Amino acid sequence: MTRLVICVLLCVASLVQGGHEKYEGHQLYRVAGLSEQIQALEAHLDILSATPAARSRSGKLEAVVRLSPEEKQQWLHYFDERHMTYTKIADNLADILREEEAQIQKKKASARRSGKSITWDTYYRHDEINDYLDELAEQNSDLVTVINAGLSYEGRQIKYVRISTTRFENLRKPVIVIDAMVHAREWVTTPVAIYIINQLVLEAKNSAIVDGIDWIIIPLANPDGYEYSIDEDRMWRKTRSKSHEGADECPGVDGNRNFDHYWGTRPDSANPCSIIYEGPEAFSEPEIRVIRSAVMSNIERAALYISLHSYGNMFLYAWGNNGTLPSNGLVLHLAGINMATAIDKLALEHADRYIVGNAANVLYYTTGTSRDWTRAVGVPLTYTLELPGYEYGFLVPSDYVEQIVKETWAGIEAGAQYVLQNYS
Ligand SMILES: *[C@@H]1O[C@H](CO)[C@@H](O)[C@H](O)[C@H]1NC(C)=O
Repeated sequence: MTRLVICVLLCVASLVQGGHEKYEGHQLYRVAGLSEQIQALEAHLDILSATPAARSRSGKLEAVVRLSPEEKQQWLHYFDERHMTYTKIADNLADILREEEAQIQKKKASARRSGKSITWDTYYRHDEINDYLDELAEQNSDLVTVINAGLSYEGRQIKYVRISTTRFENLRKPVIVIDAMVHAREWVTTPVAIYIINQLVLEAKNSAIVDGIDWIIIPLANPDGYEYSIDEDRMWRKTRSKSHEGADECPGVDGNRNFDHYWGTRPDSANPCSIIYEGPEAFSEPEIRVIRSAVMSNIERAALYISLHSYGNMFLYAWGNNGTLPSNGLVLHLAGINMATAIDKLALEHADRYIVGNAANVLYYTTGTSRDWTRAVGVPLTYTLELPGYEYGFLVPSDYVEQIVKETWAGIEAGAQYVLQNYS
């Protein structure tokens, strides 16, 4: 009886806490190693980020990894044996997650009181974001169309926004496509997408890039994973699909390994329990098929594609699968530098400067990514944009959201100017 009462209390508490107790005692370590060494961890460990050699000046990569109390000794031993250096950067992940949640609840309560529908100091649920998009379209129907693009695996509506002064009917205009939240735990990506939409729709000063360009923005591509990361597991990255073998134990697919570009060529990505599981086939995920159709809907005019991710301060371009450059490698680099420089001008003093480069050379090999697939189907400028995480990684406190959305907008604006000058 007493046990039952305790269980009920604990179970209710754990619901309120978004499942953070599963990370009780989990620690975060920063590990340095050769690119191959860091890449090899991906199949077995939860890598929160990898950042390039230039920052550590050692010719190596640095990764932030999460170690549970049970696996800690084994992995530290593994690092020692391979002469990979490491430092502990967080003692108890559960505490950090509880603190983050408390902050968000507080901000949200005050935002509700002030009666604004969106503020840049907290995170919103999927239904709140969808409602906001519908309202915005209703109030600006000459400019904004919301497309109900398809349902997620669990049946949530995935929406995207088309912004155009000519209803997408002027086929001479270039198109820019931006997506966010393919990876569930990278929460700051959706506010960045919403801020971009707001700038384009509500700010008259941006009329040149609104008149001259048609925009497609998918602000919350993986709603199942996102909602799950709020309610159950803050560290969730993948979709929540269960259509693959082994899904009972390990549901979900890494959406940014699910595109049809060198898909199925990497053994580490074939394991359903790995955080980089590519899925049972290319485009197996309904969420990823939404991105495919958004890109393909105007493929002959698409000039720039950006997938928003968190974190690491990087603009990464193709080819990630082998580290060679596409034929327009120089242009990719130049446009990337334009965007990165615009962001750096507004960045916080203690933030890392942006790195622009080939994904495989800066980090390591990847297959099935949206960046490579969009380049391969003919979009000239395609990037994975890793937003800043400061010392928090993708657990960026909501206090930083405003900084990140504003500085990133400067980069998007610079990218749009480049598109106007070169692709109209
Ligand atoms: C590298 O991959 C790209 C496609 O991503 C391909 O076009 C190119 O031929 C490959 N290069 C080499 C050297 O294998």
